Amino acid sequence: MQLRQLHPHFVAEVSDLAAGRPLPSQTVRAIWEAIDRYAVLVLRNQQLDDERQLSFARHFGEIEAPRSARATTKRRLRPEISDISNLDENGRLRADDDPRRFDQLGNRLWHTDGSFRRVPAALSMLYAHKVPSSGGETEFADMRAAWDTLPDHIKAEVEHLVAVHDIAYSRGQIGFTQLLFGEREVLPAVPQRLVRLHPGSGRKTLYLAAHASHILARPISEGRLMLRDLIEFATQREFVYCHTWRPSDLVIWDNRCTMHRGRPFDEGQTRDLRRVTTRDTASTLDQVA
Ligand code: OGA
Ligand code: MN
Repeated sequence: MQLRQLHPHFVAEVSDLAAGRPLPSQTVRAIWEAIDRYAVLVLRNQQLDDERQLSFARHFGEIEAPRSARATTKRRLRPEISDISNLDENGRLRADDDPRRFDQLGNRLWHTDGSFRRVPAALSMLYAHKVPSSGGETEFADMRAAWDTLPDHIKAEVEHLVAVHDIAYSRGQIGFTQLLFGEREVLPAVPQRLVRLHPGSGRKTLYLAAHASHILARPISEGRLMLRDLIEFATQREFVYCHTWRPSDLVIWDNRCTMHRGRPFDEGQTRDLRRVTTRDTASTLDQVA
């Protein structure tokens, strides 16, 4: 496989790799090395269906089912796959007032997947089936580069803090207060380190997300302002790569050291992306910092 860096800090395009084919263990190792170094990998022209996408992901960890796997209503896709589309269970465009649409609009805020779970997500793998003619990009921000660039006095101030992550807070920011899948009890707010050691690279990284509500043992307002400042700093354009989707793109990102957000598009057009996500091995509080 070949690698070509797409951004001065991170992101590589991988070529000469068919993710839908059986993967020898040395290829899995080479992909891991590329993830550890570049955090976001772009693979164009991949021939995947849901089954092959899942098989590929299983080489890299245990699969974390999406929140919507709890839905009691009919799903368009199997429960291990996050439906990142604007389609309903019958494959038709969702109605403008469909609550699943409002829930998904939360992805337009800078976030990292699954930080609201005690054991959060590690890798996400998003595959494009159908994309709109323009818009609908996904932006990624490099949290290791952001950490490296923070002034020393801020590093010292934030290094040992713990943030409280809460999906209800996150969705509430865009006025979506009705958790959809009966999650209030299953997904209580959880603590996560604000600064982590990224195990694959040995680099420190900020761990931020729209899910981060406040800072433990600090007044809510103070912690919230601090989180806003950090997110603003970490998402300056110099840390951001914008991915313009083509059908058959597979993008893999490491949630432990990046943030991402979706961009608006004409919702009269179909955007059908599907995501498989792996679970990390422990809470950030139980990991070496
Ligand atoms: C996701 C996500 C953004 C997008 O799949 O986790 O946040 O561009 N997607 O759809
Ligand atoms: Mn996401």
